[in-house]
Amino acid sequence: MTHILVTGGAGFIGSHVTAALLAAGHDVTVLDCGHPAAHRTPPQAPPGAVLRRADLRDPAAVRDALRGVGAVVHQAALVGLGAGPQDLPEYVACNDLGTAVLLAAMAEAEVKRLVLASSMVVYGEGAYHCAQHGPVRPAPRDPADLAAGRFEPGCPHCAAPLSPGLVGEDAPVDPRNVYAATKVAQEHLAASWARESGAAVAALRYHNVYGPRMPRDTPYSGVAAIFRSALEQGRPPQVYEDGGQRRDFVHVDDVAAANVAALRAGAGFRAYNIASGSPVTVGEMAGLLADAFGGPRPRTTGEFRLGDVRHVVAAPARAAAELGFRAAVTPADGLREFACAPLRA
Ligand code: UD1
Repeated sequence: MTHILVTGGAGFIGSHVTAALLAAGHDVTVLDCGHPAAHRTPPQAPPGAVLRRADLRDPAAVRDALRGVGAVVHQAALVGLGAGPQDLPEYVACNDLGTAVLLAAMAEAEVKRLVLASSMVVYGEGAYHCAQHGPVRPAPRDPADLAAGRFEPGCPHCAAPLSPGLVGEDAPVDPRNVYAATKVAQEHLAASWARESGAAVAALRYHNVYGPRMPRDTPYSGVAAIFRSALEQGRPPQVYEDGGQRRDFVHVDDVAAANVAALRAGAGFRAYNIASGSPVTVGEMAGLLADAFGGPRPRTTGEFRLGDVRHVVAAPARAAAELGFRAAVTPADGLREFACAPLRA
């Protein structure tokens, strides 16, 4: 049993992680500032955990929260695409300055184990294969192609259509929006901290997380919450592009279990895909949710967002081999449950 500090432990993923750590027999302190992008009501820690309401950017508060702690599970972050460039300083301040303050305080307190909530957005586009050129990395999609309904990225050498594959943790990072850039920076800061202090960092690259208590539709929400909110309001989910974009939707209970397992990671920095291993298209996901909810059929709009990537689908083998983590919930079962699960206000 270890005393664990969970940053962001009052949030959607953090509260499930906290509950799983408590169930595994750990003591948990939650550090959460109740950021207005994530909380419309005062933050609460799950029963059994102690809540310290403070901002990660406050070194004295972080030092205080680390007393007696043996490991940190760092979930606190601004997520999603945000409202626009005016959000840039707050993303960098919360996600990167906050992580830097945390790492400095951990070094001082000699806490040498960190589980970091990272994201598959660090990859940019997923893995692709060209029949002629083998594995390739497509350039960001051209707005003119998207406007013409050409959503699949082409080969950077011959422009031929590509087949999407499984992205492994050794793929180069290629952040394509502000949030993604802050997650890459968190990983790099944590990796250099691990080298300098001989610490262990497991960076968990979450794929598309969903589950009970997911926040409702906001500029910071992922697509599963947006579709659920639409169905609740009697509106059809609006599926962008042609609905053929592929993602791996992973249940929050599995993400929580992965965090518990990641406390066993060895020394140094190591990244892990955290995914269900059963990818679906966004169009299929919308259909599954609408059927299970009993709501209107999804509408495929052909609209697009420039920051979006086409396919990101994980190779989940490393987490299985090194952490013993395998997702237990299939998207078919989990999305059916999620269709009627409570969302957070
Ligand atoms: C999402 C999260 C990201 C998180 C990552 C991994 C957002 C904005 N992105 O990235 O923060 O790190 O998962 O967990 O929260 N779409 C629709 N209709 C909509 C909204 C979106 O069809 O109303 C489509 C998008 O065009 C995209 C796909 O759904 O193709 C996924 O969108 P989204 O969940 O927003 O972003 P991800 O890139 O998957």
